[in-house]
Amino acid sequence: MIEPIRWKNNKIVFIDQTKLPARLRYAACGDIDMLCEAIKKLRIRGAPLIGVAVGLGYALSAVNSKAKTYKGLKKDLEAASKKLRATRPTAVNLFWALDRMEKTLAHLSGDPYGSPDRWKRLILKEALNILKEDKDMCRAIGKNGAGLIKNKDVILTHCNAGILATAGHGTALSIIYEAKKQGKRFKVYAGETRPLMQGSRLTMWELIKNHIDATLICDNMAASVIKNKGVTKIIVGADRIARNGDAANKIGTYGLAVLAKHHGIHFYIAAPSSTIDRNIKSGKDIPIEERNRIELIYAGSKQTAPLSSKVYNPAFDVTPRSLISAIITEKGVYEVKRFRRI
Ligand code: MRU
Repeated sequence: MIEPIRWKNNKIVFIDQTKLPARLRYAACGDIDMLCEAIKKLRIRGAPLIGVAVGLGYALSAVNSKAKTYKGLKKDLEAASKKLRATRPTAVNLFWALDRMEKTLAHLSGDPYGSPDRWKRLILKEALNILKEDKDMCRAIGKNGAGLIKNKDVILTHCNAGILATAGHGTALSIIYEAKKQGKRFKVYAGETRPLMQGSRLTMWELIKNHIDATLICDNMAASVIKNKGVTKIIVGADRIARNGDAANKIGTYGLAVLAKHHGIHFYIAAPSSTIDRNIKSGKDIPIEERNRIELIYAGSKQTAPLSSKVYNPAFDVTPRSLISAIITEKGVYEVKRFRRI
């Protein structure tokens, strides 16, 4: 299986997703500034993968630290964590993973056998645990969600919630891969996901590689495809889910949920529990990333709008819980009215 990220010889090796689908290119990252750039530019992207990447980034900063004392190491890691936290605001997995790494460091302060080498080893171990757990969570999401897929289903997905967005088989797409493994026959439509085309560049690439019957559509075809091609369910990922079940995902997701309601079909969110933000009550409190205006003025290197255009470019939107049929996590399938029990 393709591995979008791994730890090798004290470096983070990752697929540069901006090069797909034309080239499958791995990059090796040996310092935190390069990692921050990779996350900001979406070379590494997708909420669970960002969480794994910052965990490894924290470990990388520990390995690279010249500090001889716990206090010195802590200072270096605080600086690294600050930079990583400033890369992208919406995917809560980023903050979840860094909180977890910081807790690991805090536990080491009372370590009677303390030495910089031992601290670095234990910090790296925690980052690799996050990576391994993400793989396990993806597998479990796939198994839990596959029961919802029936023969002859026509499934619409948006953005990329697949292998490339996680350390494992993905979230929404893990369900599709598991259903295929179970012998179910169904079709998938993938929305291209303007402006950065994660659907056409990444989802289509991995669905084709995994022999899924997939068809690419423009985002603005969704309503007519649901109506005329008999879409039976929509399954997407999430970047942050509030305590009440409101869920932020790639811009365009909310519109699909409205369409699902109008056409009387199910709208599912698939995400690991690391995407649930227990500190926020509702979607109103989810910070939404606004990205550079240039992403709308150019399509790749081709100018597609006047340079002086006023631009609004939010990267995510929030789907209210009332439009979500169920949230599929590694723990089970939860109807949103019962979501509080997770
Ligand atoms: O801006 P991106 O490409 O990082 O946005 C990714 C998404 O919106 C995904 O749908 C989400 O992170 C779920 S990934 C399993």
